[in-house]
Amino acid sequence: MPRWSLPQHDYWSTPFAESLLRHLDLFLGATVLDVAGGHGIPAFYVAEQVGSGGQVLSIDVSAGQVTRARSIQSSQLPWLRFECVDMRALPADLPAYDRIIGNLSVMFFRPNRFEVIQGLAAHLKPGGQMVLTFPSLGTFDSLWRRVDQEMATLGLLTERRRLEAYIAERPSAEEGREWLDGAGLHRIEVAEYPLEVATGPGQELLHHPLLRGGFLDDVFECFDDQLLAERVMKQVSEDLDGVLPLLAQRCVLAGWKPASRT
Ligand SMILES: C[S@@+](CC[C@H](N)C(=O)[O-])C[C@H]1O[C@@H](n2cnc3c(N)ncnc32)[C@H](O)[C@@H]1O
Repeated sequence: MPRWSLPQHDYWSTPFAESLLRHLDLFLGATVLDVAGGHGIPAFYVAEQVGSGGQVLSIDVSAGQVTRARSIQSSQLPWLRFECVDMRALPADLPAYDRIIGNLSVMFFRPNRFEVIQGLAAHLKPGGQMVLTFPSLGTFDSLWRRVDQEMATLGLLTERRRLEAYIAERPSAEEGREWLDGAGLHRIEVAEYPLEVATGPGQELLHHPLLRGGFLDDVFECFDDQLLAERVMKQVSEDLDGVLPLLAQRCVLAGWKPASRT
């Protein structure tokens, strides 16, 4: 068993990383660029797999995440580095890599996701592979339908329009395929693996660490009146008929840069 296996208690990053690793073709001595690296899922695992003959650079825009990753690393796996870099504006002197990976990354490629993928592809060696994951369009659809139904009952037109726009902003698997294709990658694989997020009614949903940390906050932003938002969401949380099972779509985008002809 690898010493740096993915953390089993993590119910979000780890299942996404597992889907990423299903598509990633790693080899001993590979050089890897990991974008939106966070505190090292799956960079530590990947670094162990490529061994001391390889190089892994994991970048994140958050200095806090980089500090956390470095403190987990201490002096281990010295061929793995964590640096604070914005993946949307890679330094021109960054070399090309055998593999580029990004777990839970594509949603942060805003505002122009295709441009970011093109920028990453420019740092992929000919014959190299890129594998990215993100929660694609369809994620938590049953919950959004339930929220929309509650908004409709109350005649909240503006809030419904904002919710619709929020949902539509999530990229689809098909869009992802077009971006990889447009960036000149081939042997493209696009897959979606459903992931059930366990929750119960009431406070369990409203204070769910994953949902409240991002997804539900975005719903609250659809409201000018936060007391009304609380009321709507309380109502939703108490009647989860048709909402459960709550499913995310783990979307994997994988493709290869054509090898250069000699
Ligand atoms: C959902 S976390 C994923 C982290 C890690 N890959 C994992 O699977 O746990 C997304 C990470 O992307 C980082 N991020 C967001 N925008 C970024 C950007 N423009 N450049 C680099 N990292 C970014 C965030 O700081 C955060 O750590």
